[in-house]
Amino acid sequence: MPDLSVEALCVRFPGLEAPALEIASLDLPAGSRVALTGASGSGKTTFINAVTGLERVRAGSVRWGGTDLAALGEARRDRWRAAHVGLVMQDFHLFAGLSAIDNVLLPHRLSRALPLADVRETGERLLRRFGIERFGQRVETLSRGQMQRVAVARALAGRPAILVADEPTASLDAEAGRAVADLLLELGAETGFTLIVATHDPSLVSRMDRVLRLANGRLTDGARA
Ligand SMILES: Nc1ncnc2c1ncn2[C@@H]1O[C@H](COP(=O)(O)OP(=O)(O)OP(=O)(O)O)[C@@H](O)[C@H]1O
Ligand SMILES: [Mg+2]
Repeated sequence: MPDLSVEALCVRFPGLEAPALEIASLDLPAGSRVALTGASGSGKTTFINAVTGLERVRAGSVRWGGTDLAALGEARRDRWRAAHVGLVMQDFHLFAGLSAIDNVLLPHRLSRALPLADVRETGERLLRRFGIERFGQRVETLSRGQMQRVAVARALAGRPAILVADEPTASLDAEAGRAVADLLLELGAETGFTLIVATHDPSLVSRMDRVLRLANGRLTDGARA
């Protein structure tokens, strides 16, 4: 499991005078459980895009173990991400018309980074554990809480070393949000993945080991909750 080390990271967007994200130095040991908080526009999604290799880093370095994402082109970043990162997007990004299990398998079918039979086995085990027994049910007929759990199962089915979630409880009521948080923390404790969660949800923040607060693209402190 790789540690994360960020040095002199600076992300700028055209039309913005100040950097959208500027981090002099940040180290997260493997297995860290980190909440990423800050006002809208403070740089949370920009941070996630940089540390998962979704966006190219042009200034500074983002090292996961021996891999500096800033040194990799898009195709190699995509391959690295498929093998190491599980991503839970804010609005699920599930594909209507496909079943729960086919949604879980789709990114792995595309990336071919991992043996599909292994992913299917892990994915089905997770869906069952999340209370989703009808693997063939089309996702658009699931409740929102169930959709969120399918998205989490998809992120975890490849048994990633790194799990990154952007507002995973934002569209859920308190109880469903707590259930998703329980699952993330339980599975993290079992598998030891590094967990990075962007969230405004105080109850989720309070359950993480460390809180990174962003304001105008800068970390305001690395304080523990
Ligand atoms: N592709 C882009 N081009 C120009 N500006 C961008 C781009 N992407 C992000 N920004 C700007 O960078 C800043 C940080 O955006 P970011 O999406 O990281 O915020 P956030 O903390 O995730 O906000 P939210 O809580 O609303 O999701 C914002 O001012 C945003 O407008
Ligand atoms: Mg965002």
